[in-house]
Amino acid sequence: MSSAFTPRVFSGIQPSGGLTLGNYLGAIKRFVDMQADDFETIYCMVDLHAITVWQDPEVLRRNTRELCAGFIASGIDPEKSILFNQSQVPEHAQLGWIFNTVARMGWLNRMTQFKDKAGKNRENASVGLFAYPALMAADILIYHATHVPVGEDQKQHLELTRDIAAKFNHDYGVDFFPITEPVIEGAATRVMSLRDGSKKMSKSDPSDMSRINMTDDADMIAQKIRKARTDPDALPSEIKGLDDRPEARNLVNIYAGFADLSPEQVLAEVGGKQFSEFKPMLADQAVAKLAPISIEMARLMEDTSEIDRILHRGAERARAVAAPILKQTYDIVGMVS
Ligand code: TYM
Repeated sequence: MSSAFTPRVFSGIQPSGGLTLGNYLGAIKRFVDMQADDFETIYCMVDLHAITVWQDPEVLRRNTRELCAGFIASGIDPEKSILFNQSQVPEHAQLGWIFNTVARMGWLNRMTQFKDKAGKNRENASVGLFAYPALMAADILIYHATHVPVGEDQKQHLELTRDIAAKFNHDYGVDFFPITEPVIEGAATRVMSLRDGSKKMSKSDPSDMSRINMTDDADMIAQKIRKARTDPDALPSEIKGLDDRPEARNLVNIYAGFADLSPEQVLAEVGGKQFSEFKPMLADQAVAKLAPISIEMARLMEDTSEIDRILHRGAERARAVAAPILKQTYDIVGMVS
C-alpha cells in the first residue's frame, strides 16, 4: 500500500435479494469489527450494481432498505461509519465512466463472476454486467480507500481495481489513486452451501435449505443446520483431517466465524465429537448471533422513513469525500471546468 494515503475502509453489498450467512460472516460482521475511531469506514448498498441483472423496482427499493436495516441491526453505527446507497452519490458512476476508458477488454473478459452470471447466453448479458468491475473500482477509488474487506469471491475484482489504479497513475503520470489492499481474513471468507460443500452459499441457489438467511427465525436456523449435509465420521482433532470433507470443513469454518476462533481452535474443542453433538452446538451459536439481528431488522423495517433519512445523510457525507476526488480526477484527465 502506498503510505501517502491515510487508511480508509470501503466495502459494498448488492441489494439484489436477501442477506445470507455468507454475507454476514464474510462481510458484514467484519465491517462491524473494522469500525474504529482513528480511520473512516464507508459502507455502501450498491444499487447501481444490482441492476446489471433485472430487478423489479419495488423489490429493489425494499431490498435496499432491508439491507440498510441489516447493516444497522448487525452493529454498523451510522454515526461512526458512512452508510448510504450508491445511486445517491453520482460520483461513483462518473468515475466509473473514466475507468471504463482505463480498463481493457481483455481484463474484463477474464472475470469469472461475469462468466458465472452471464452463463451460456453471453450475447444476452447486459453491457453493465460486463463493465461491472470498472464501476466497482470506482466505488473504492472515489474515496481513495486503502482497505477493502470482502469475501474470497471478490478477490479477482479487487486485483482488477489495483490494475486500474496503477494504469491510471501510469498513463497520466501521477500518484493519485492508492493501490488498494484486499482484506480477506478470518475463518469464513468462503461460506459454502449447506447442501453441497463444493458450492458457495448464495442467495441465488434455488434451494432455500442451502443457505441461512438473515431474516430466518431461530427455529428455521436450527432446522437448516440440523439438516445440513455431512459425512458419517466424527470430527477430527487436526485441520488436515478435514481434507476431502468439504461439508465438515464448512461447518467448522462457520462455527469458527461465529465464535471468533480459528478452525484449529474449534477442532481442539470439538475434535472426536459426532455431528449429532456438534450440530446443536453450532445451531446455538448461530441462533444466539443471528436471531437478535433478524428481530432488530424487522423492527427497523417498520419505519422506512428513518432508514431513508440515514441513507440520505450518509450520502451527503460520502459526497463530501467523493466530490473533490472526482474534481481532481477530471483535472488530471483534462476536462475543462
Ligand atoms: P455481493 O453483494 O455478492 O456480496 C457482498 C459481500 O459478501 C461476501 N460474500 C460471501 N463471503 C463469504 N462466503 C459467501 N458465501 C459469501 N457470499 C457473499 C462477498 O464476498 C462480499 O464481500 N461486487 C460485490 C459488491 C461490490 C463491492 C464494491 C464490494 C460492489 N462494489 C466495492 C467491495 C468494494 C458483490 O457482488 O458482493
